[in-house]
Amino acid sequence: MATQMLPLLPALLTVLLVSWTAAQDVDWHFDTAKCRYALGMEDGTIPDSDITASSAWSDSTEAKHGRLSTGEGDGAWCPAGPVFPSSSEYLQVDLRKLHFLSLVGTQGRHADGLGREFARSYRLQYSRDGRHWITWKDHWGQEVVSGNENTYDVVLKDLGPPIIARMVRFYPLADRVMSVCLRVELYGCVWKDGLKAYTAPVGHVMDLSGSPVYLNDSIYDGSKEAGVMFGGLGQLCDGVLGGNDFMESKELRVWPGYDYVGWNRETLGQPTVDIEFHFEKTRVFHTMQVHSNHRHTQHVRVFNEVVCEFKASLLSPWAEPALSLQVPLSDLHDPSSRTISLPLGGRPAQILRCRFSFSDRWLLISEISFYSKFPAVTLRAGLPVAKDDSSNTAILIGCLVGIILLLLAIIAVILWRQYWKKLLGKVFFITMFLYSLPIQEGPPPYPGAPPPGLSGAHYGEASGGGGSVPHYAEADIISLQGVSGNNTYAVPALSATPTDCPPLPELPRERLIFKEKLGEGQFGEVHLCEIEDPQDLENLEFPFNVRKGRPLLVAVKILRPDASKNARNDFLKEVKILSRLKDPNIICLLGVCVSSDPLCMVTEYMESGDLNQYLSHRVLLDKTGPSHNTPTISYPALISMASQIASGMKFLSSLNFVHRDLATRNCLVGGERGEGEDRGGERQIKIADFGMSRNLYAGDYYRIQGRAVLPIRWMAWECILMGKFTTASDVWAFGVTLWEMLSVCQEQPYSHMTDEQVIDNAGEFFRDQGRQVYLSRPAVCPQGLYELMLSCWSRDCKLRPSFAYIHSFLTEDAMNMV
Ligand code: ADE
Repeated sequence: MATQMLPLLPALLTVLLVSWTAAQDVDWHFDTAKCRYALGMEDGTIPDSDITASSAWSDSTEAKHGRLSTGEGDGAWCPAGPVFPSSSEYLQVDLRKLHFLSLVGTQGRHADGLGREFARSYRLQYSRDGRHWITWKDHWGQEVVSGNENTYDVVLKDLGPPIIARMVRFYPLADRVMSVCLRVELYGCVWKDGLKAYTAPVGHVMDLSGSPVYLNDSIYDGSKEAGVMFGGLGQLCDGVLGGNDFMESKELRVWPGYDYVGWNRETLGQPTVDIEFHFEKTRVFHTMQVHSNHRHTQHVRVFNEVVCEFKASLLSPWAEPALSLQVPLSDLHDPSSRTISLPLGGRPAQILRCRFSFSDRWLLISEISFYSKFPAVTLRAGLPVAKDDSSNTAILIGCLVGIILLLLAIIAVILWRQYWKKLLGKVFFITMFLYSLPIQEGPPPYPGAPPPGLSGAHYGEASGGGGSVPHYAEADIISLQGVSGNNTYAVPALSATPTDCPPLPELPRERLIFKEKLGEGQFGEVHLCEIEDPQDLENLEFPFNVRKGRPLLVAVKILRPDASKNARNDFLKEVKILSRLKDPNIICLLGVCVSSDPLCMVTEYMESGDLNQYLSHRVLLDKTGPSHNTPTISYPALISMASQIASGMKFLSSLNFVHRDLATRNCLVGGERGEGEDRGGERQIKIADFGMSRNLYAGDYYRIQGRAVLPIRWMAWECILMGKFTTASDVWAFGVTLWEMLSVCQEQPYSHMTDEQVIDNAGEFFRDQGRQVYLSRPAVCPQGLYELMLSCWSRDCKLRPSFAYIHSFLTEDAMNMV
């Protein structure tokens, strides 16, 4: 018997290993949030020799001067030829290795005030091998990127989709004959995956009760022929993991199915999806992680077997034997998407082919990544031979020395940062002192110039003769960021003495069972977790009538273990405040885990996510009724939701609590209210605060020199210019939130304006000479409701309505307006 079992042993071990790694949830899929480093144009890490151009106007404006925020030579790269009407002039940066690029920055030629040239727009091209160049396009196929409006401001552009490349070219554009000059920076990190291209069958279109779900690889940058994609990279390695519902996407305004590439067994006509992966160099493969959807109710299931083959180079044969891995799924009934870790046994290869077996009609994959290393190489008879890297003591010693050096560098950085913090603290104190003077209603005695010793106006330069606009110094702005990204709350009524603080309900952290990541930011992550038998937990603030035997789903905000002391204090402060905010329209704190690290706060889970995502995937239900299968939202449902937000804000304002970041992205949407009841999409809404650093909404925040982040499009003029946050500025933000809702979150507020223009507009509100711009009336918004919005944006805080008035207006008047 034992000998009969022996041949099965490797297979058995593999099954055990696959299931073990799947259960571990060690999800090391590429984290795009941590890949936004400046790659060395500004700081000179990229040598001059790697910066080239199609031409240069003069020696003093050659390519090497195209470095962001530097002023060498005549202050920028300027091409010799015109860029209008055709554009063939480019500035090229060679990063020497494949990089994942998430952001680019551009700037014009300032040259201490002498420069006048900048590029209002540009195109990007990239190459992985220096021969084949690809034009970058955004998610909607647009190639042209908006550039600079003046010679000095840096304009950052988030690359969605990201670029994986070694070389990048910037092609400045113009709409008339004019001189253009550029300074640039690239942001990202080394593409350690080493994947150069993958070949896969083109994704299919799913027919879901008559409406199409496009499961193609919409950002694939290679070629497509005869139903096969080859020679490029795309969504399978863009760092974006799809959610449980493949119809929903993390990207804004994209079509259902966007996050996944999917194949149908019948359409493909074979039992496996075969994907071939080509790497830059030979690597030793340890693990492959595949993120797959599992909506079995819609015939989508995770693959049940994978067979992988390895080959050393394009011309060599596939190595024998192939590696066969079974994927035993214990929780087959759980429809959550999941990451499967597959051990690849440390096999060396440059090319990998894996056949994923269908276990239902559809296979949907959003991401595949590899954990691999470069093999230690010994030269034998002149030929490189891969060998087991674990035996190489020299490398081990090298690594140890490397780690020690790294630790020393980290200590040096910490000491250096502490020094700067002290310095900034002093600057902040001086600034606060100066700015504390005008905190009163009405036009205050604004300082016309920034306080001495500060770098002063980063934006909002007073234009024209209408009086100087107050500036908001950088040091102030830093202080506005709390632990989850933003609020250091102003809560006079709540800043009670320790004696009247109820004890925080501490929960045993081992009772939180991780389900999926809901979001993440600079300061930590938010996870969806399950608590089994929640009735057993005495400390738990019990939110709903959870039926006995049913687990409770909760959202868990986790502070990064390496967060600073200040971030920890802010986190605890936020917990204390939230624990006393009990209102049906405010997210409820259920418990905390603060007796050990990492600090966690546990809140109720809102099953339909944030209001911005919820609305942006819907269309307004008009009188003609539903015309297609996109989910709809009715006008009364929108008003009911807005009135719930007003009610939550009424509660906060009654406590003198200032939220500071009210917006649809910070409101959560619950499940359907009455089962089977059609209420036109009406749901329960709760105000929450995710923090400004959620990557999904990075574009809603204005970054100052990469440090402070501000939601300027939602901020009242006095917040932008003076940092004066009050209930009245929350009312302004409510007006913008209402505008977003009536626009069904189809566009960002002031989408036609750059961040700098939004800040200039705040200056126009201050000057009050009739040049300020208001958000325009959304098509479905009745005039009476628009007038309510306009009153929220009154220049004079005292003329803005109270939340009590807004709430009664929305519950009584607005409902009957359409
Ligand atoms: N934080 C992020 N997403 C959440 C959700 N759906 N419910 C509660 N808190 C959240």
